[in-house]
Amino acid sequence: MRNLRSLSPLLTLLLPLLLHLLAALVSAQGSSWNTLSGNTPIVVARGGFSGIFPDSSSSSYSLALLTSVSDVTVWCDVQLTKDAAGICLPNINLDNSTDIASVFQNQSKSYLVNGVSTRGYFSIDYTLKDLSNVVLTQGVYSRTNKFDGSLFTILTVEDVASQIKPPHLWLNIQHDQFYAQHNLSARNFVLSVSRRVVISYISSPEVGFLRSISARFNPNITKLVFRFLGQDDVEPTTNQTYGSLLNNLTDIKSFASGILVPKGYIWPVDASLYLQPHTTLVSDAHKVGLEVFAADFVNDVPFSFNYSYDPVSEYLSFIDNGDFSVDGVLSDFPITASEAADCFAHLSPNATTKVNVSVISKYGASGDYPACTNVAYNQAISDGVDVLDCPVQISRDGTPFCLSSIDLIESTNVVQTNYSRLATSIPEIKSGTGIFTFSLTWDAIKTLKPSILNPYSKYRLFRSPKYKDAGTFLTLSDFLSLTKNQTSLQGVLINIENAAYLAEKEGLDVIGAVLGALNASGYSQPGKQKVLIQSSDSSVLLKIKGNANYELVYEVDKDFRDAMDSAVADIKNFAHAVVLDKASVFTENNFFLTGSTKIVPKLKAANLSVYVETFSNEFVSQAWDFFSDSTVEINSYVIGADIDGVITDFPKTANRYKRNSCLSAKTRPPYMDIVQPGALLQLVTAPYLPPAEAPLPVLTDQEISEAPFPPVAQITPVPSPAGTTPGSPPGNNQHKFTVSILLSSLAVLVASFLLL
Ligand SMILES: *[C@@H]1O[C@H](CO)[C@@H](O)[C@H](O)[C@H]1NC(C)=O
Ligand SMILES: *[C@@H]1O[C@H](CO)[C@@H](O)[C@H](O)[C@H]1NC(C)=O
Ligand SMILES: *[C@@H]1O[C@H](CO)[C@@H](O)[C@H](O)[C@H]1NC(C)=O
Ligand SMILES: *[C@@H]1O[C@H](CO)[C@@H](O)[C@H](O)[C@H]1NC(C)=O
Ligand SMILES: *[C@@H]1O[C@H](CO)[C@@H](O)[C@H](O)[C@H]1NC(C)=O
Ligand SMILES: *[C@@H]1O[C@H](CO)[C@@H](O)[C@H](O)[C@H]1NC(C)=O
Ligand SMILES: *[C@@H]1O[C@H](CO)[C@@H](O)[C@H](O)[C@H]1NC(C)=O
Ligand SMILES: *[C@@H]1O[C@H](CO)[C@@H](O)[C@H](O)[C@H]1NC(C)=O
Ligand SMILES: *[C@@H]1O[C@H](CO)[C@@H](O)[C@H](O)[C@H]1NC(C)=O
Ligand SMILES: *[C@@H]1O[C@H](CO)[C@@H](O)[C@H](O)[C@H]1NC(C)=O
Ligand SMILES: *[C@@H]1O[C@H](CO)[C@@H](O)[C@H](O)[C@H]1NC(C)=O
Ligand SMILES: *[C@@H]1O[C@H](CO)[C@@H](O)[C@H](O)[C@H]1NC(C)=O
Repeated sequence: MRNLRSLSPLLTLLLPLLLHLLAALVSAQGSSWNTLSGNTPIVVARGGFSGIFPDSSSSSYSLALLTSVSDVTVWCDVQLTKDAAGICLPNINLDNSTDIASVFQNQSKSYLVNGVSTRGYFSIDYTLKDLSNVVLTQGVYSRTNKFDGSLFTILTVEDVASQIKPPHLWLNIQHDQFYAQHNLSARNFVLSVSRRVVISYISSPEVGFLRSISARFNPNITKLVFRFLGQDDVEPTTNQTYGSLLNNLTDIKSFASGILVPKGYIWPVDASLYLQPHTTLVSDAHKVGLEVFAADFVNDVPFSFNYSYDPVSEYLSFIDNGDFSVDGVLSDFPITASEAADCFAHLSPNATTKVNVSVISKYGASGDYPACTNVAYNQAISDGVDVLDCPVQISRDGTPFCLSSIDLIESTNVVQTNYSRLATSIPEIKSGTGIFTFSLTWDAIKTLKPSILNPYSKYRLFRSPKYKDAGTFLTLSDFLSLTKNQTSLQGVLINIENAAYLAEKEGLDVIGAVLGALNASGYSQPGKQKVLIQSSDSSVLLKIKGNANYELVYEVDKDFRDAMDSAVADIKNFAHAVVLDKASVFTENNFFLTGSTKIVPKLKAANLSVYVETFSNEFVSQAWDFFSDSTVEINSYVIGADIDGVITDFPKTANRYKRNSCLSAKTRPPYMDIVQPGALLQLVTAPYLPPAEAPLPVLTDQEISEAPFPPVAQITPVPSPAGTTPGSPPGNNQHKFTVSILLSSLAVLVASFLLL
């Protein structure tokens, strides 16, 4: 009964999703597929939705059914108990995925598994009854353990069939030989269970096992699938490597109707994780009549850089690449496989947008290339960005240009150059030291090499190393002439920060430089593209207000749960739109969503557009609720919170999201439904709940008001031969740089890399 109890809150919370299952049945599409059968590739949920719940648990299986295509196949790794029951657990040693080591203390044993001595707790030493007090836990340490208190019991194959009622069941027999050595017969088990339960697939990496059962199963009901392990691993019943078995697919066809292979058998990657040309395995196998299933799809482990951390892109390269489609994918995150197959495959490049949301770049396509370089901007344009952004910085000689930060250290190689001696500390701008753009001439800045941003390096997630210093920087007028001719662009966004400091202390007029460049490039005249000017400083927007027809965007740079009416009225006075952080839309605690705030509806009621940042593809940037799937996250903000703009360093993902066919379905299928903020956290049991956090503050008038914009100070610049030598510190020369400060900040930088 414990299983059913743990299931019921899930059902209640996700009940609305159930309604969509019917609709999904209806929307099954008829496009032609390059699969062997011509049917849609199947989605196989490995251990259920094991990317979020403990593998093989009732909630894991239920969530897979609730979020996937309606004909999802559910995968069970079968282990045999001492009394020959078949239970679903991912590994032959139970200690990885259960609490058995604390139930039966000090009772681990060593056994030979395929000739390798392996220590652990093995199911052969326990009867089903012995295991009734053992509960499932999260075995993958990078995933949340917050559901370990849910007391999920071990399920037998029959339990899964009768309690979960999956549309299709796939049994994997990973270790027939091991069980046979202990007088347990996987063959007898599958033959016996198949009399009571419909088994759609049986897979095994052991040739001998599949040969021993192949005559006993009707392939129209139960397909046998040979599972390939690593190319150099030895298949235990033939003593051949899997790599050599691959050379005779005809032989495999004699005992199986399909093969299951690691992804790399189809799309190999090189040592630095770049994709190489695909092999001919899928078409070779299809030629001999074998179906091909690809394994190891997980959203939360780095995969090839060619997919830009977007798991949907990866699935599409296996199912919709123009050449072939695999016949199914084995995934820990079946929602992503489902949306890829049903919503994104066969999407015409001309597909119309289905939702009215602007895709606004964050430093161009800075997820793929160094921020604000020509290559990042061109990539964003070809990725279909709607609004291209330029955060304006200014050089010592007054040239406005695009760069992600006023501190050159963040996105250039400046510390490795002679200009590193220009490091200073300016607390009004940032804590610690920096090498600021206004300390160098534009000619000097041009010589710096860009360096790719790595916002998630502390999780060891890095952006494309191949392009880590690619591209060149653009002046604002270069940027505007690049954007001016792009018919696909709806507009440009110019972000102005630190303008008051620069005017008052450095005598640099950023606002004037921006307005001048816009005027010079024709953007001050009405045109097809709009101009958005963004600042977190209300005095900047107030100063620009009234200049041409620019859309003024106020960036709220802290998180709030609500806004006072008077604050909203103030914003209305100088802005048309507001930029909020994701956390001001859906609140979070320990990567669990806790609820929705009131600030978005309030701003929208006042007719202010709401743009939200930053949507990144790296899964560590997303709450657990979004299943490590950037599309699920974007969808929940766009449909669930009704935001007007998505600010993203991966514009391709957001643009493709807008066009996906499931958005136009009358009833959105569950994998294109929004997540309910707070629902997942309710499934966490009390001892595992993270401590509650103080609520976010309310945005007040005081937060918004700023001193009036200061006049631009008259500072006579110290003349220097432009570009030939490093610029000496600017006019008023008030900043003392010290090598020790620079060295210490570099040391911290280096140390933080080593600690990764
Ligand atoms: C537990 O499982 C994870 C993921 O499959 C694996 O990386 C790890 O090596 C396993 N640990 C043990 C003790 O088997
Ligand atoms: C298990 O072993 C540890 C250390 O050897 C010992 O302290 C503990 O009492 C043992 N537990 C049981 C239940 O035997
Ligand atoms: C398996 O069964 C055989 C014959 O009944 C017996 O000789 C052998 O000891 C058993 N092996 C194990 C590991 O139980
Ligand atoms: C499987 O189905 C095909 C087509 O319906 C049929 O021709 C064949 O006889 C069936 N095979 C078995 C073993 O039932
Ligand atoms: C595979 O190798 C093992 C150990 O070397 C041996 O006992 C077994 O007979 C071999 N099997 C085959 C099919 O060659
Ligand atoms: C492949 O296997 C088939 C069937 O077992 C066999 O007849 C054939 O000779 C094998 N081909 C090669 C190249 O080994
Ligand atoms: C993967 O990306 C690298 C670097 O951009 C490129 O050279 C390679 O051709 C890409 N691979 C595929 C299969 O597109
Ligand atoms: C997309 O549009 C282009 C030009 O409008 C057209 O030539 C092309 O056939 C369209 N492609 C598809 C798949 O509809
Ligand atoms: C999208 O919204 C904008 C601004 O609200 C409006 O001008 C435009 O007509 C809308 N487009 C569609 C396709 O609904
Ligand atoms: C740094 O200065 C030295 C000596 O003035 C010069 O030789 C070198 O080329 C400079 N390096 C750079 C990157 O400017
Ligand atoms: C933009 O278009 C104009 C007129 O068609 C052309 O003269 C200019 O060279 C183009 N600029 C760029 C950067 O392509
Ligand atoms: C804008 O540009 C026009 C010519 O292109 C020039 O006459 C005008 O003075 C400029 N205005 C400003 C404010 O720079």
